[in-house]
Amino acid sequence: MIAPASVERVLDAARIEDIVGDFVRLRKRGANMLGLCPFHNEKSPSFNVNVTGNYFKCFGCGKGGNSVQFLMEHEQMSFPEAIRYIADKYNITLEEVDASPEQKVEMLHREKLLEIAAYARKHYEQELWETQEGKNIGMSYFKERGFLDTTIKKFQLGYSSKERDSFAKKAKLDGFPEDHLQELGLINKYGNDFFNDRVMFTIHDISGRPVAFAGRILIKSENSPKYINSPESEIYKKSKVLYGLYQARQAIRKMDDCIIVEGYTDVLAMAQSGIEHVVASSGTALTEEQIKLIHRFTQNVTILYDGDPAGIKAALRGLDMVLEQDMNVKIVLLPGKHDPDSFIRESGAEGFLSYLEQNASDFITFKAKTLSEDSKNDPIRKAALIKDVLESISKIPDTIKRSRYLRECATLFDIDETLLVRELNQMLKKVNL
Ligand code: UTP
Ligand code: MN
Repeated sequence: MIAPASVERVLDAARIEDIVGDFVRLRKRGANMLGLCPFHNEKSPSFNVNVTGNYFKCFGCGKGGNSVQFLMEHEQMSFPEAIRYIADKYNITLEEVDASPEQKVEMLHREKLLEIAAYARKHYEQELWETQEGKNIGMSYFKERGFLDTTIKKFQLGYSSKERDSFAKKAKLDGFPEDHLQELGLINKYGNDFFNDRVMFTIHDISGRPVAFAGRILIKSENSPKYINSPESEIYKKSKVLYGLYQARQAIRKMDDCIIVEGYTDVLAMAQSGIEHVVASSGTALTEEQIKLIHRFTQNVTILYDGDPAGIKAALRGLDMVLEQDMNVKIVLLPGKHDPDSFIRESGAEGFLSYLEQNASDFITFKAKTLSEDSKNDPIRKAALIKDVLESISKIPDTIKRSRYLRECATLFDIDETLLVRELNQMLKKVNL
């Protein structure tokens, strides 16, 4: 742990113009400095660096703070990461105070696992790019699906060979202990590779470190699942990771929106077409932790799922969770049998974007659309539907937003708003009991 005294020294040493200057081009303006705000899109500079006060402030979007806050916000660093960054810059030696022995052991262990995951990532990439088998099978597969070298590199895709233990052999030779390799699920209890004869997707944490892998089968098979995934480990908690978030984070901030899709290849295809603010929930239901991760970058979420019943169900589940986090949510369902990957291939980026624009609906409209098909002339069903929508509205913490949606709901269902208010209050009372 960094000693509090060292933290103080770092905070004293940090000059806001130096730190911000590492990422933003600044120009002198009187005693202060000015640049284009990195937190929102602008053409004329309103991003102010106050040299005397040692803080930044954007008069466009309102963001402001000191050097540490800038790094945490702009680079998504944790507090200790930001402190280390600044210490490095000013050659300040950080004093560490003792973590407890248990903490030390745990930290060391995590570091080792991260090192192995990084090693494995490199191995799978090498097998893809440098071996004949990888080029013939893995690379041809990716190429057939239309993925470009830049995309394959950016997402650190790889290949695991047909050989039963090519990774295990190499890793052991390079001195990685078998129990750690097993802990990450990279080799099985017989000492053989877990991933064989699959194209590999690296799953990163938010700072871009590999923490897990997914392997996709190359030929359709009845007996094996299409994707197999690394098991959970000390460095990989499924509920806390979103596929593609590391690569998407700047774009999410810029677009002030995050599109959530279901599959790995959907993220790749969209990013490649220039729609980069995309992450995948990877076939599992969205979790609160995942939503909170997104919240660090934007308030707005677009859920983009397949239009089949499973997709609708998943979208409905995700929706309430986003509302509970006081975020705004839009929902888009894709037509027919399409997933984002196939749809964008068919209609191109332009067509895809205009489809999104035309079909994104807020949650009330979405619920009304998907649940109301057969309730039009059935008063009991209609009542149930309205209750359902009210349930969602009751999840929204912000009262102003809540009343806005209530009004929309009243209009849409042609029902007296005071009635809805009464019903909603009943619901809220029940929750608060
Ligand atoms: P899909 O079956 O829609 O696959 O599963 P996909 O993403 O379109 O993959 P391609 O285009 O056929 O290659 C959606 C997501 O569900 C998870 C994966 O994260 C996948 O991307 N999944 C699916 C699994 O984890 N295991 C599976 O066996 C299938
Ligand atoms: Mn697909």
